[in-house]
Amino acid sequence: MRICVVGIGYVGLVTSTCLAEAGNTVVCVDNDGEKIADLKKGVIPIYEPGLTEMVKRNEKLGRLQFTMDLKYGVDNSLIIFIAVGTPSAPDGSSDISAILSVAEGIAECISDYRIIATKSTVPVGTCQNVVDIIKSKTSVRFDYVSNPEFLKEGAAVEDFMRPDRIIIGTNNPSVRAKMQQLYSPFMRKSSRILFMDPVSAEMTKYAANTMLAMRISFMNELSVLCEKLGADIELVRQGLGSDSRIGSAFLFPGVGYGGACFPKDIRALVHTGSEYGVEMTIAKAVQQVNIKQQQRFAERILNYFSGAEDQATLAVWGLAFKARTDDVRESPAIFCIRKFLDHQMKIKAYDPEASCSAMAALDGAIETLQNGYDVLDGADALVIFTDWQEFRNPDFEVIAAKLKKPVIFDGRNLYDPDVVKKAGIEYHSIGRPTV
Ligand SMILES: NC(=O)c1ccc[n+]([C@@H]2O[C@H](COP(=O)([O-])OP(=O)(O)OC[C@H]3O[C@@H](n4cnc5c(N)ncnc54)[C@H](O)[C@@H]3O)[C@@H](O)[C@H]2O)c1
Repeated sequence: MRICVVGIGYVGLVTSTCLAEAGNTVVCVDNDGEKIADLKKGVIPIYEPGLTEMVKRNEKLGRLQFTMDLKYGVDNSLIIFIAVGTPSAPDGSSDISAILSVAEGIAECISDYRIIATKSTVPVGTCQNVVDIIKSKTSVRFDYVSNPEFLKEGAAVEDFMRPDRIIIGTNNPSVRAKMQQLYSPFMRKSSRILFMDPVSAEMTKYAANTMLAMRISFMNELSVLCEKLGADIELVRQGLGSDSRIGSAFLFPGVGYGGACFPKDIRALVHTGSEYGVEMTIAKAVQQVNIKQQQRFAERILNYFSGAEDQATLAVWGLAFKARTDDVRESPAIFCIRKFLDHQMKIKAYDPEASCSAMAALDGAIETLQNGYDVLDGADALVIFTDWQEFRNPDFEVIAAKLKKPVIFDGRNLYDPDVVKKAGIEYHSIGRPTV
C-alpha cells in the first residue's frame, strides 16, 4: 500500500519504517529540515534498538522516502498518518496545534480520496476537530480514523511488529477493511485488531497510559510506607504480582515515571475531565505521588550531604527516563539533577545513549563521560536513575575503591542489598531498609 506519515519522531519513524518493512511504500514528511536532511544522509535522529538497520535497508530499497513536502506525501499515498507531537500546554491540556496545522495542510493539497489516520495521542474529541477543519477547506472526499499508538520507547520496533492490539477507531466498514489489510502482516498468528468508534479509540489510549502509571504510583506510595514499617517492597511486589488477577507488569517501585507520554497524557486526561465537569480523582493522585516520589529521592540525597552540598560531587548512572532510549523528556534524572545543581553540587554522569539529549536539557551544566566507572573517580556517592542492563551487575569492589566514601543511592532497586553490603558499600534503595 502507499502510505504517508507526517511527523517523523519516535512514533512516526518507527511506524513508517515498520510499514515499509512489510512491503508498503512510505513517504515520511517532517517540517524539521535538519532532521529530514540527516535522515536522507542515513543519520537516524533517535536511538531505538533495531531501527537504524531497518531504516537504511528500506531506504535503499526505495520503500522509504524523506521529505518536507507534504503535498508530495499526500499525492503519493492512500493512507496518511498524522504522528506529530502533542506536548502539554501550560494549563495541562494537550497542545494539538501541530495536529490542526497538519490537518489544514492536508486539506490544502488533497486532490483525491484519502484515509487520514491519527497516531498521535490526542484529547478525546479531536477526531471531530480534524474532520471539521478538513471539511471547511475542501470538498474532496476523505475518511478519518483514530489509530492511537501503544509502542514503548526502547522496544518500539518489537512492539510495532508484534503489537498486543491495534485500535481502529472508525465506523466505516470499508475503512476498517483497509486498515485491517494494512496491519495484517503484524498479526499472523491471531488478529488482535479492535474496531471501535473514534471517540472510544482516543479514550482507550489515555485509559491505558493512566492505568500503567497508576500501578507505578501505587507501588511508589507503598514503598514509602514499607520504609517506615521495615517491610521490603520487593517481597511485597512478588507477592502482589503473583496474583493472576493483578499480574506482575508495571509494579516496579522506583524514582518515578517520566518520558514523553505518561506525565503529559495524565495531565491531559485530568484537564479533559475538568472541561467536562468530571474530577479525575485517581489520575490526579497518580500525578501527585509521582512528583512526590521524585522529590523524596532528591531530598534523600540532599539531606545526606546536608550543610556540605556545595562540596559534593555526585556520580550519576543513567539520564534517560528509562533504559534502551535516549529520551530525557520529563526524566526523573533531569528533575533531580536540576535540584542538585540548585544546591551547587557537581554532577559527573554516564548514560549509554542519552548524554547528548541530557546535556541539551541541562544547558551543559553537568559533565558527561563515556564510561560508567570513570564518573566514580573522586565522587562522593553514586546515584542510579535508569535501569540500563549494563548497570545490573557491576564490579562493586571497583565502585567501592573509586568513590571517596562508598555509598549508592539506587532509584531502581537494581541490586541485592546483601551483595552491596558485603562489598562495604552503604546502600540506599526504594522501599527497602538501608544497609
Ligand atoms: N514516544 C512514545 O513513546 C509515544 C508512544 C505512543 C504515542 N505517542 C504519541 O505520538 C505522538 C508523537 O510522539 P513522538 O514521541 O514521536 O514525538 P516527537 O516529538 O519525537 O516527534 C514529533 C515529530 O513531529 C514533527 N512535527 C511537528 N509539527 C509538524 C508539522 N506541522 N508538520 C510536520 N512535522 C511536524 C516534529 O518535527 C517531530 O519530528 C505524540 O502525540 C505522543 O503522545 C508517543
